[in-house]
Amino acid sequence: MILRDTERVLVVERMLVGHNKKEGFLKVSSVLTNRPKTKLLVDGGDPEETLRIKSLIGFVDGQTTNPSLIAKNPDIQRRLASGHQLSEQEEKDAYKKIVQSISPLVGDAGVSIEVFADLDSRAAEMLAQGQEMFTWIPNAYVKYPCTHEGLRAAEMSVQKSIRVNMTLCFSQEQAAAVYAATRGSKEPVYVSPFVGRLDDQSEDGMDLVKNIKKMYEGGDGHVHVLAASIRSINHLLCSFFLGAELATVPSKVLQEWAAAGFPRPDKDFTYKAIDAKGKPLKPIPYKELDLNLPWDSFDLAHELTTKGIQKFVADYRSTLRRSA
Ligand code: G3P
Repeated sequence: MILRDTERVLVVERMLVGHNKKEGFLKVSSVLTNRPKTKLLVDGGDPEETLRIKSLIGFVDGQTTNPSLIAKNPDIQRRLASGHQLSEQEEKDAYKKIVQSISPLVGDAGVSIEVFADLDSRAAEMLAQGQEMFTWIPNAYVKYPCTHEGLRAAEMSVQKSIRVNMTLCFSQEQAAAVYAATRGSKEPVYVSPFVGRLDDQSEDGMDLVKNIKKMYEGGDGHVHVLAASIRSINHLLCSFFLGAELATVPSKVLQEWAAAGFPRPDKDFTYKAIDAKGKPLKPIPYKELDLNLPWDSFDLAHELTTKGIQKFVADYRSTLRRSA
């Protein structure tokens, strides 16, 4: 069920926090007084889940959502199970209601809301959606894909003071283009390298985070790295170690992190770049790129960005009523 108002959120929140006594309380209070520098976001689409994580950890800095996660929202799933496919308007209204329930639960990293884009979507359409979504909640970040049209939409958005999170980032070139397209933004811009999906094709996704961080050392600091597609505590600890400004993490991994006593990497931390079967991942070499070049001079193409958009479209369509 979607939470209806801030009052109810606070009541449920107090009830949940009330269960955290003794040992659990000590651990939560220690993570509260010694928070990781990396802001923690919940990667999900269910306000009740965000609330549970906030109770478990003691805080949630922000939230990221996307069409796949919204399609998995329990309320939407219940509607689908009862045979009710949604119209486009109903889907949009449901998305709005979900982020409005999450918005008051999170800290200053905000709630990222993703535009509905397919491979043919033009910048103007994305911008129109982004402008509307940005009015839904006071702490919105609008997510656009790291494509040519997504970057054009981002460039126009930051000129209108719309906060943006550039998603489906799989290359250092895309991250350089994000930097160049959003230069001058008054608010931090997020770029979201998808670690797990690079690992899925045997490349070391954490290297992309490391390379982007290194490249941005020569910049003005307006783009913050948001490690995404985090699949394990190993990914999370490495994100802390590399100094990612933010990490968005599925509730399952945050629960594992809490169960392990909220570990942190020490100064000698070494990341094990292996896949789920223990096979070594291929390193991604660093490239010297000039952040002062025009954004559209960078090679933006990446197969995983294309596939990622296609997956979001498929998951979004799965909730929709088929037109006759
Ligand atoms: O943060 C991005 C995330 O939702 C994608 O995760 O596990 O589907 O690659 P995953």
